[in-house]
Amino acid sequence: MKIIRTVGEMQAFSDEARARGKRIGFTPTMGYLHEGHLSLVRASKADNDLTVASIYVNPTQFGPTEDLEKYPRDLARDQELLEHEGCEALFYPDNESMYPPGFQTELRVKSITDHLCGASRPWHFPGVALIVAKLFNMVKPHRAYFGQKDYQQARVIRRMVIDLNFDLEVVVCPIVRETDGLAMSSRNAYLSDEEREQAIVLSQALEEANEMYREGERDALKLKNRISLTIQRAPLAKIDYCEVVDGETIQPIERVEGTGVAALAVFFGKTRLIDNHILGEPWNLSP
Ligand code: PAF
Repeated sequence: MKIIRTVGEMQAFSDEARARGKRIGFTPTMGYLHEGHLSLVRASKADNDLTVASIYVNPTQFGPTEDLEKYPRDLARDQELLEHEGCEALFYPDNESMYPPGFQTELRVKSITDHLCGASRPWHFPGVALIVAKLFNMVKPHRAYFGQKDYQQARVIRRMVIDLNFDLEVVVCPIVRETDGLAMSSRNAYLSDEEREQAIVLSQALEEANEMYREGERDALKLKNRISLTIQRAPLAKIDYCEVVDGETIQPIERVEGTGVAALAVFFGKTRLIDNHILGEPWNLSP
């Protein structure tokens, strides 16, 4: 696997691959990889000639009191995992290359970021959109792979790709869960044993709402109340948000018609976990 540190080298790698007619798949990550990330790499390997993964802990998507400094990092292990998956290149830029002195540009995707994580972390999606747009211009992929666990993020990126005419396809892959149902996340590493035990309540709550939905319940408030009540059974859980929104626009709804999404963010101690469940027909999340 080729390790690429500079923007120029990354662009040259992709230009050369494109000139040879190769299709490039891209998995952007912040590292500390788990099975969720590796499922994206595998999907990219299956669909494309070359797969590039990036590892960059992007400062602009973290708030001033968030976990940027202590975000878990293990480059040697990540490298080994990516090699094992047959990833052709790892782009691992530093802050100076990504945000050189004089950097000024901001990028905001509007109403789709009004609710859920966009409301509780208003700095987050401008930072994500900015870095992903920059990475797209550096890696020049034909397809880019994101996880459904970050549902709102996937919708924001899809919107940005359409609005800014990026010539690539956004592919959204299913959530990968631990055997007890907890959605995989690099931040699960922060949980104490007790928090980890109680965190299974998140997927249980979403599953209960989905069961209600399957039995015919369409009232968003009732679905949302069931999720909150179930989460409140875990004494260490503190709900940041728990909503049922339209799957396309990410706006609150009264009834689930078409595709809805039950989405939540819950703190266990200082660790904020997110999860979601699509309510409705299996749905192609890609543009
Ligand atoms: O989902 C993530 O890990 C990050 O938000 C991303 C897409 C790599 C941008 O920093």
